[in-house]
Amino acid sequence: MDNNFPLTGWGSVAVHSGHLQDPLYAHLVPIYASSTFVYDEAEQGMRRFSGKEEGYIYSRWGNPTFTEAENKIAALESFGIKKNDSPLAVKGILHASGMAAITTLLLSNLKSGDKILTHYSLYGGTEEIVTKVLPALGITAIIADLRDLNIAENAIKKDPAIKLLYIETPANPTIQCVDIEALSGLAKQYHLLTACDNTFATPYLQQPFRFGIDFVVHSTTKFLNGHGTSIGGILLGSNTDFMKTKAYTMAKTLGGNANPFDAFLLINGMKTLELRMERHCHNAMEVANFLEQHPAVAKVNYTGLRDHPDHYTAMKQMRHPGAMLSFELKKGLQGGIDFMNKLKMCVRTVSLGTCDTLLSHPASMTHYSVPKEEKEKYGITDGLIRMNVGIENVQDIIADLNQAL
Ligand SMILES: Cc1ncc(COP(=O)(O)O)c(C=O)c1O
Repeated sequence: MDNNFPLTGWGSVAVHSGHLQDPLYAHLVPIYASSTFVYDEAEQGMRRFSGKEEGYIYSRWGNPTFTEAENKIAALESFGIKKNDSPLAVKGILHASGMAAITTLLLSNLKSGDKILTHYSLYGGTEEIVTKVLPALGITAIIADLRDLNIAENAIKKDPAIKLLYIETPANPTIQCVDIEALSGLAKQYHLLTACDNTFATPYLQQPFRFGIDFVVHSTTKFLNGHGTSIGGILLGSNTDFMKTKAYTMAKTLGGNANPFDAFLLINGMKTLELRMERHCHNAMEVANFLEQHPAVAKVNYTGLRDHPDHYTAMKQMRHPGAMLSFELKKGLQGGIDFMNKLKMCVRTVSLGTCDTLLSHPASMTHYSVPKEEKEKYGITDGLIRMNVGIENVQDIIADLNQAL
C-alpha cells in the first residue's frame, strides 16, 4: 500500500497499517525466524551497533515480524488522535507476554522509593508483581478504589512518592471500570505518569491515549490475537524518545522479547479485530439480556446493563461495553459445577478473547485455593461464572446456556 494514502476507517487501518513491503514481494510479512542479522561489511556492523544506521542486529533487540505487529498496534491505539495539531506518535515494543510488557513498563519508570497508585481490581498477575515482586526492590503500591476521584486525589496529595498511576479498565475479572479521562487529568495535575491496561477493551472499543494516558499495555494473547493461538504482550508509549531509549533498553536486557511466529499470528489476527469486536459485543448484550430473565440466575454483571454501577463510566469511554460478563447462579458452588459440566458447545476454560465462547467458574477453577474472605472482597462468590462471549451465532450460545441452566 502507498503509505501516503490516507486511511479513514478503523477497519482499513487494522488491515493495512504497519505492513512492511517484503524485499522478495511476499504478500504477507514473513516469519523472520532468525536469531541474528548479517552485515554487508564490517563497517555496517559498526554503524548498526553505534545506532548510526537503522537495522536489525539480534532478535532479542528487534525483528522485522515484531516491527509489523508493533506498528499496527501503535497505529490502532493512536488512530484519529491529534497532539498539537499533528497525529499522535506512539511507539510499541512487542513482548513475550502481557506480563513481560508490564514488567518493562514498571522497571523502566520506577526506582527504589517510588510508589504506584492503582485500583484494587487488577489482573492477578499484575497484582502479584505490584504487591509481591516490586516491594523487594523498594517499590510499593497504594491500592484504592479509584472509581472515587476524591479517594484518588487524597492518596496522591498525601504521598509525594507516588510516581505512577496504573489502571486496568475494564478490569479482570470484575469488569469494573474507572474513569480514564478524570484520572489522567488528576495525574497530570500532580505530574504523575499514567499507564492503562487496555486488554479487555482493545483499541477498537477504547483508546486511552485519547484521554492523555502516557503508556498503554496489552496482553495480546486475548482479543488482539483473537484466536487463542499465542501468548504475547505490548508496551506502547506516547513519549517516543523514552520508548526508544529507557523502555527499549529495559525490554532488551530483561529478555522478555516476542517470537516471530507468535508475532505473525498476532498480525493476521488483528486484521479482523473490528469485525470480531462488533460481533462479540452484540452477542454479549443479547446474552446479558437472556441471563437477566433466567430464574436460575441471581445477578448479571455486564457494563452494558444500565443497572451496572460502572455503566456510565464504560459508555463514556468505550464504543461498546465489551465481550466479558459474569453472572451468579442461585445454587452456589454445586450449581456452578453442575452448570459447567452440562455445557455442550461453549468451552470450559479460563482466558478470553477467542472466537469461541469460553466460560470459567472461579470458585472451582482459578480461585479454588483462595480464602473465602479474599474472594468475596473481589465479588467472587461461589456461584459466579465468568464468560467470554464468542462470535458464534448468538442463538446457539443462548441455547447452550439455557440447556445447562
Ligand atoms: C487484563 C490483563 N492484563 C495482563 C494479563 C497478562 O497477560 P499474559 O497472560 O499475556 O502475560 C492478562 C492475562 O490474563 C490480563 O487479563
